[in-house]
Amino acid sequence: MRTTGLALLSLCVLGSQAQQIWDIWETAYDQSVLFERQYPSDLPINFVTPGAIGAADIVVDDSTLYQPIDGFGGALTDSAAYILSQLKETNSDNYWTLLDTLFDPTDGAATAALTFLRIPLGASDFSPYVYSYNDANDTTLSEFSIDVAPSYLWSTLTDIQSIGGAQLKIIVAPWSAPGWMTSTGTMLGGTFLSQYTDVLAQYLLMSVQQIYDKGFNIYAVSIQNEPENSNPTYPTMLLDPDTEAAVATQLRTLLDDAGFGTVQIFAWEHNWDQAANYPVQAVNDDPNAFAGASFHCYAGTVEDQMSFYDAYPDKGIWFTECTGEFDSASAWWSDFKWNMENLMIGSLSYYSRSVVLWNLALDGTGQPLLPGTNSCGGPGCRGIVTVNSDGSYLLNQEYYALAQASRAVVPKDPSGPFGQRIGSSVEGTLDYELLVGAYKTGRSEEADTDWNRYSLVVMNWDDGENGGTASAVETTIEFRGMQATYTFPVGVTTLWWFAEN
Ligand SMILES: *[C@@H]1O[C@H](CO)[C@@H](O)[C@H](O)[C@H]1NC(C)=O
Repeated sequence: MRTTGLALLSLCVLGSQAQQIWDIWETAYDQSVLFERQYPSDLPINFVTPGAIGAADIVVDDSTLYQPIDGFGGALTDSAAYILSQLKETNSDNYWTLLDTLFDPTDGAATAALTFLRIPLGASDFSPYVYSYNDANDTTLSEFSIDVAPSYLWSTLTDIQSIGGAQLKIIVAPWSAPGWMTSTGTMLGGTFLSQYTDVLAQYLLMSVQQIYDKGFNIYAVSIQNEPENSNPTYPTMLLDPDTEAAVATQLRTLLDDAGFGTVQIFAWEHNWDQAANYPVQAVNDDPNAFAGASFHCYAGTVEDQMSFYDAYPDKGIWFTECTGEFDSASAWWSDFKWNMENLMIGSLSYYSRSVVLWNLALDGTGQPLLPGTNSCGGPGCRGIVTVNSDGSYLLNQEYYALAQASRAVVPKDPSGPFGQRIGSSVEGTLDYELLVGAYKTGRSEEADTDWNRYSLVVMNWDDGENGGTASAVETTIEFRGMQATYTFPVGVTTLWWFAEN
């Protein structure tokens, strides 16, 4: 009887005003809670007729739609693949648990559900040796083969795809063209020689084709990683924006003719600071070749993304590289806070469709690096996870930042769409203590429902660092004329509810 009554009751309230928050995931600033689902005593939290607003008031406006989100992830460098493949040998159970923890997209799982993977085409500063896919000086590329990469790269990618499935998006870029196409005759620094424009376009097409032949779909190609970086200690190459556009024009045609019309081309793939210049100039040269521009964090600020957006509001923006660093001056929470402010919430608020960090996995000293490189010097770069030689591993602050953000937009249904950013603002006397991203995730045909998921990623950074003590913020959430109340602890909370379209 009781069960039936409850079932009837829930049927009755399934009207337009039945929104309830059941799903709440938190990472606390003091690490006492690390991406754990929360079960407060007042669960579910109902949206009710509005009363007074809280100390902060989050106003969600789902009638304002912004960019669709492609997802969150990291780079499978040769070094990351090596570290992971070593773990597979040392402790296969931990390996598969770790891959699940990173990539399992199952709805409601306590996993980061990463869906974006970035892979260098040939050697980078995180490779065991310097190589391109066609080292022989031969414009017909007769020796072209992606099998010159270490075999653990492709085997690890196979394992990741077996977990991430169809939702995985792979983006690729060379760190340098083959050395003979550059002014130094090697991949180590120098300038691209524009007489090889056709050959580089062909090289990139063949990369996409051979990776496809191994069973992986490429989502996007960047013509050159960091085209304004020349460093003689690792693969790098200068490429000016007009030549980048000339390569992109050729590649676009080659991809289309070879049946890869859905593979996108990104311009720039370098720092925020030049957002108004290089990528705008490249896209000016050939707006049809480029899907948009991609950005790294090492110079400029995230607001610079708006310079590209303002020039090309109909093109996409992707954030594709930033690394954590081992540095005694930084601490877990300040790193986590920076990542949320600038990348996981910040970059998306400036129209990015992705946040992709650098190495997925490294050891506890940021190794292995390319022998002889001065990249990631000092205490070293930190992977998203640290894997130790004894087969144990540690999920770093970057992992938790990615997980809190990814869970807000990962498809609700296996074949459903990713989230899309929607309008949100914060009011109230403590409005400055919360940073908020809001997202709507649609449903698949199979799910046969118009109850979308509405998610918030909320950082309460009232951490007491400017005086006072760390304080939770009692908050009201306004949605379609109804109001829910939740007290956000210091740290990051991701929560969601469902509502009809
Ligand atoms: C590559 O071959 C061409 C044609 O033989 C030659 O002109 C060029 O100098 C060679 N480049 C390098 C780096 O050896």
